[in-house]
Amino acid sequence: MMTLIIRYLGIDTRTQLLAERLWGLLDESSDLVIADFYRRTRRSHVGFLLDERSIKRLMVKQKEHWHSLFNSGFDQAYLRGATKVGIMHRELGLDPRWYVAGYALMKSRFTEQLLFDASIPPPLKVALVVTREKYVAVDMALTLSSYSDWLVD
Ligand code: HEM
Repeated sequence: MMTLIIRYLGIDTRTQLLAERLWGLLDESSDLVIADFYRRTRRSHVGFLLDERSIKRLMVKQKEHWHSLFNSGFDQAYLRGATKVGIMHRELGLDPRWYVAGYALMKSRFTEQLLFDASIPPPLKVALVVTREKYVAVDMALTLSSYSDWLVD
């Protein structure tokens, strides 16, 4: 199924190169973005799921996850990882609506990083944002589909 979706989104070798370039631009600032994400999530309705110790571990895990999404060419390790994110969240009892909302926060910070970067020529900027949009769709689709047992309960 994911292969069909990847093809449907028009993700090809050129898009994969754009994705790698994208991560090259986001990598450094992602530590701060991820730290802000957990700080904000901790103060939210689902914050009780997070404690200082797990946040430290999750920051590393989440960064690895983004790296793998944009650089792995959707290999088996990435696919397993994205499925595991859904399974773990489901086991924790994290409502998928909160996962989607949290994802939107991460995603919009990444967009800001790209749009405010004056060194990227506008046509490349557009291509990078479009690429990011396609990759996060694959990522969310995979994670949410591993939530689905819970959704139909
Ligand atoms: C919206 C609120 C969210 C909360 C409260 C939350 C909480 C958690 C917690 C507590 C775990 C750890 C489970 C464990 O180790 O026992 C976890 C795992 C994880 N979460 Fe989230 N999460 C949220 C959203 C997200 C989002 C948006 C992403 C983005 C991709 C994400 C990525 C991950 C990853 C990569 C793991 C680790 C999976 C592994 O160990 O392989 N989470 N999450």
